[in-house]
Amino acid sequence: MPILVTGAAGFIGSHVAHALLDRGDTVIGVDNLNDYYDVTLKQARLDRLTARKGFAFVKADISDREGMDAVVRGQDVRRIVHLAAQAGVRYSLTNPWAYIQANLLGHTVILELARHLPNFEHMVYASSSSVYGGNTKLPFAVEDRVDQPISLYAATKKADELISHSYAHLFRIPLTGLRFFTVYGPWGRPDMAMFLFTKAILENRPIQIFNNGEMKRDFTYIDDIVAGIIATLDRPPADDGKTPPQRVYNIGNNRSEDLMRVVGLIERELNRTAEKQFLPMQPGDVPATYADITAIQRDCGFDPKTPIDAGLPKFIRWYRDFYKV
Ligand SMILES: NC(=O)c1ccc[n+]([C@@H]2O[C@H](COP(=O)([O-])OP(=O)(O)OC[C@H]3O[C@@H](n4cnc5c(N)ncnc54)[C@H](O)[C@@H]3O)[C@@H](O)[C@H]2O)c1
Repeated sequence: MPILVTGAAGFIGSHVAHALLDRGDTVIGVDNLNDYYDVTLKQARLDRLTARKGFAFVKADISDREGMDAVVRGQDVRRIVHLAAQAGVRYSLTNPWAYIQANLLGHTVILELARHLPNFEHMVYASSSSVYGGNTKLPFAVEDRVDQPISLYAATKKADELISHSYAHLFRIPLTGLRFFTVYGPWGRPDMAMFLFTKAILENRPIQIFNNGEMKRDFTYIDDIVAGIIATLDRPPADDGKTPPQRVYNIGNNRSEDLMRVVGLIERELNRTAEKQFLPMQPGDVPATYADITAIQRDCGFDPKTPIDAGLPKFIRWYRDFYKV
């Protein structure tokens, strides 16, 4: 019974696929390998996966209905980890269509797929901490109101939660949305701050710090995220015949770090001082994130183990090794 992982060439998806293979599952990975960021990084992640027994890759677009039907035809797929999406807040201001295509149309295609799988058991899909928008009550709790998104990216992720709820209600398919909080680590995403800072410092370029450095983020190490995704996947929400079998959880580190402290840690690891360009807040961005993870701890035993002081050096080591700097 293969597990379908969408976004398998992506940062989180590739790690999830490895972890599933490690425990003996077979995986069908899907990705369209789009060029939102360096395709050679996506291909390098994929090469490590395709070399492993139990992994099959299909290059496909999740918004392609016939293409996705063909991916699962004749396979007894019962579980799905759906991570393919157009990520990133800033890019949603310049290319809205990519978000509509992947996050709205693509998400619905995957739900339709799940709905028609004869032995479907559970799908875990990616939401985002960005759904909390400009909320000021910290930490962010799943019970908080999240109907005032401040970017199209956030709006599509919230829409995914709503569409999923309707599918769980109508078709009684078990669905769990995970609101990820700033995930980082080896094989990370080149559009994210930790990666951008490391790259710029090593290339002797200034780093751009928004909101004059007054930013706080709940940084979550990739291994903790992967453990949480798999623990959640193994615990589908039950259907009591009344409430729809669906849940949404925060998945974060439950610590909010000052961005300037993180910059300091990167400088220390690289043994260099960054030239810092302080800039105003970027449109669509939020000043602070901080995850209340009580629900996922209680229901799935999620237990993040990696403080940023331990995780960041692992990212830097990978970066230096991969890019040979
Ligand atoms: N990394 C984070 O901190 C973070 C935070 C919040 C939410 N998320 C969400 O988690 C998920 C995974 O994020 P990530 O950091 O691994 O991003 P990523 O961009 O590295 O991975 C996403 C993958 O999906 C693929 N993809 C995009 N559109 C597709 C399409 N239409 N069809 C098929 N494949 C497509 C991309 O090629 C990419 O490989 C995303 O849904 C993202 O929105 C991530």
